[in-house]
Amino acid sequence: MKRDGSFEIFMATAPGLETTLCDEAKANGFRAPKAVDGGVRIEGRWHDVWRANLVMRGASRVLARIDAFRVTHLTDLEKRARRIPWSDILRRDVPVHVEATCKSSRIYHSGAAAQRIENAIREELGITVSEEAEVGVRARIDKDLCTISIDTSGELLHKRGSKEAVSKAPMRENLAALFLRQCGYDGSEPVVDPMCGSGTFVIEAAEIAAGLVPGRTRSFAFEQLATFDGEAWQKLRASKIPTPPSVRFYGSDRDAGAVAMSRANAERAGIAAFTQFEQRTISELMAPEGPPGLVIINPPYGARIGDRKRLQSLYRALGQTLSAKFAGWRVGLITTEASLAGATGLPFKPHGAPVPHGGLRVTLFQTGPLS
Ligand SMILES: C[S@@+](CC[C@H](N)C(=O)[O-])C[C@H]1O[C@@H](n2cnc3c(N)ncnc32)[C@H](O)[C@@H]1O
Repeated sequence: MKRDGSFEIFMATAPGLETTLCDEAKANGFRAPKAVDGGVRIEGRWHDVWRANLVMRGASRVLARIDAFRVTHLTDLEKRARRIPWSDILRRDVPVHVEATCKSSRIYHSGAAAQRIENAIREELGITVSEEAEVGVRARIDKDLCTISIDTSGELLHKRGSKEAVSKAPMRENLAALFLRQCGYDGSEPVVDPMCGSGTFVIEAAEIAAGLVPGRTRSFAFEQLATFDGEAWQKLRASKIPTPPSVRFYGSDRDAGAVAMSRANAERAGIAAFTQFEQRTISELMAPEGPPGLVIINPPYGARIGDRKRLQSLYRALGQTLSAKFAGWRVGLITTEASLAGATGLPFKPHGAPVPHGGLRVTLFQTGPLS
């Protein structure tokens, strides 16, 4: 921790999306955010930790770095860990879990490293260490440099707290939000997702437009820390005042169950009044009345051999419908293979690097306004 009380805060995200997350951190007014491998680093205080958890749509978790030191032996790790002022941060009545990772270091056994830190916390503070605990202490030993962080989020941040129903292959909310940002989406234009599944893109877009912060209804691990100030947190949360959007958000899917799920999720998120979900196949799709905006879509990818032909024709049909009926709209398409994107015949611009998602690697393909 620095003299002014600030420390390093790390917002984690999927590899490949760090610079987009950094843009989001800048837009949210965080001080000097820096994109690094796996996330974005900022300097701040506990208030910034709470705010990052509350407002950052693209982060998967927020870590507070509490110490960093060089270490090459397990006994030194335990000694050093005992010197961390744990009682400033952890509460004696709140159990914690400890995770460690080791990379290119003399200490190579992550389980043994975690155990040493557990000993230090248990014996110095009398805290219960339990795998199920919501509050997590993380040690990362990389090239003999040990960084100790507190996971301030608890449950991953893509869990917004309002989504109960999920379809078969849902897009994670934080990835959906970053793909929307990469498409230049700022909340001022309508959004259509014609293969909406559980409604992730439509709901994220509507929330952005309505100024609804992603963490407004959920709880966080930081609420269980000694550094938590409930009154200041309530004030911060109450300062985010939503405004009704000027445009509408549309989802459709051929599957009736997916449409029902999307409606229920939109209802729980408090944006049902601005969204519309219909059961429709791609060939029945029409552009909504009003100004053009963004079509964002992640069609089925199909992992099985033999799916290929069927998928190619689905992507072709999608491309034909969008070309015929969506003049002036931009398209963002997320899929696993350039050949599937190519099958749409849409005029995609050069694409960025693939992003890991659910054991696959997905890429965002984007067009300018269709002519
Ligand atoms: C990968 S999922 C989309 C997941 C969604 N983005 C979410 O986050 O839940 C693909 C969706 O496309 C729908 N779909 C497949 N073929 C379709 C078609 N011809 N017309 C409309 N929807 C279709 C499926 O029912 C499925 O919900």
